[in-house]
Amino acid sequence: MEIPALEIEKQIEIARRIRGEFSRRIASDKTALAYVDTYGCQQNESDSEKLRGMLSEMGFDFTPDEFAADIIVINTCAIRENAENRVLGNVGALVHTKNAKRSQIIVFCGCLAGVPDTVEKIRVSYEQVDLVFPPNALWRFPELLYSVLYRRSVRAGGDLPPLEQVIPAPSEHECADKASIAVSGVPDEVKDAQGAARISKRVFCIDHSDGAIAEGIPSHRDMKVRAWLPVMYGCDNFCSYCIVPYVRGRERSRSPEAILDEARGIVAGGYKDITLLGQNVNSYDGGNGSGFPSLIRQINGIEGEFLIRFMTSHPKDASHELFRAMAECGKAARHIHLPVQSGNDRILALMNRGYTQAEYLEKVATAREYMPDIVITSDVIVGFPGETDSEFEDTLSLAEKARFDSLFIFIYSKRPGTPAAEMMDTSTREEKQIRFDRLNDLQNEISVEKHMKYIDTTIRVLADVDSHDARYPVKARTNGGRLVHLKGDTGVIGSFVDAKITHCNSWSLFGELQS
Ligand code: 5AD
Ligand code: SF4
Repeated sequence: MEIPALEIEKQIEIARRIRGEFSRRIASDKTALAYVDTYGCQQNESDSEKLRGMLSEMGFDFTPDEFAADIIVINTCAIRENAENRVLGNVGALVHTKNAKRSQIIVFCGCLAGVPDTVEKIRVSYEQVDLVFPPNALWRFPELLYSVLYRRSVRAGGDLPPLEQVIPAPSEHECADKASIAVSGVPDEVKDAQGAARISKRVFCIDHSDGAIAEGIPSHRDMKVRAWLPVMYGCDNFCSYCIVPYVRGRERSRSPEAILDEARGIVAGGYKDITLLGQNVNSYDGGNGSGFPSLIRQINGIEGEFLIRFMTSHPKDASHELFRAMAECGKAARHIHLPVQSGNDRILALMNRGYTQAEYLEKVATAREYMPDIVITSDVIVGFPGETDSEFEDTLSLAEKARFDSLFIFIYSKRPGTPAAEMMDTSTREEKQIRFDRLNDLQNEISVEKHMKYIDTTIRVLADVDSHDARYPVKARTNGGRLVHLKGDTGVIGSFVDAKITHCNSWSLFGELQS
């Protein structure tokens, strides 16, 4: 399941080769520039750090200006239809940047690049896109980009050698999964205006594998205080509404050694807040019985002042052992994101969630027994196919009972290819919106009530970013992950400081630094 180290080295060698090609052919004497745009979840943010790491290896600097960029990389999200529409709208607009700079390369990757219907749309209607690859092929980015450069060179009568001549690939370089990964220009040969066959300039990578683990890809971290640390990839839960298991493949865990090594490096790099990432971190299985609670304990043992966060936890796998480990580890933040999705048992069964409302509430109670001050946040989908008004009332009553600190509410979005997409949808968009608003109003009341308790108290927070807002220049987070806007000097960014809370709203706290 792990990509052999030699395969990764080969990619890095190709990256260095591209570094030469870019400065010679494309950007002449200037440094080549890359623009990376990321949509969706923290896993995508983390993937973008790897894309940036590889781009740096290829000699690129970064620009926030799409028109100045020699390469544009759009790392996409497929979770809901509105995310997809937003991405496609923005990719459509890239016609203008490409028209202004014909040599520009446009890359479409991330979860949408693993959805066959979307890839077909890109092929037919978004000519400006040069390279498409899904999340499981991310580690091959240098090789895929080289294919684009090679095809361009052939079409222009250039002399760029084919990849096989640049990087000989003896058999031990080949990874086991490679046979199931196809690269195609779709089609490879296209006819030009005179009817002559020409090589297509576009590269479409199709990955039929279940996904693998690629260690050793360079990472270019974006933030200075908070760091993402993936511990596992993929998802085996197949919640009936969710597209993730189809685009990110099967669950696979990194080894504890690789994770600890990276965690030590992150702490040594001065980061103060590490978020362990996985679609379902509780099913982390590092072998030899090392589950997620044991991983938290091991990371907690690293010297230094920092916080350990993690997401996302599936309620069916959130165990006593997990809560015990959190309670016993001083560096584990007192926060758990525990998506419930619905409060109604029939809907939960249709969603394939594997628990009932009562079982979920029992987990919440257990978490609070171990850590009375724990912050609990959750996700809910309203308007799942067939959800009736009275079934929605169960979600309202669950929110009353669970008293989440905050809640992310989503209106159900049909994802073709998932089981829920075949289910009969009985409520209208307006009815769904009414349910959304009612739950939102209830949660806002609960959140404000919880936040009010902080007013006039002094708490320890981690100052993590400059807000660029003159009234509250420092953004900080409580141990439980609540956002705090602070008055005071931005020089404190990167340290744990005391803050006096003065007021709040439903999403955040406001206060001032205490010296
Ligand atoms: N429609 C609406 N929301 C969804 N989510 C996942 N799939 C869908 C969908 N098809 C929500 C879930 C999940 C969060 C990341 O996104 O609440 O926890
Ligand atoms: Fe999707 Fe369910 Fe897996 Fe979360 S646990 S990624 S909601 S299938």
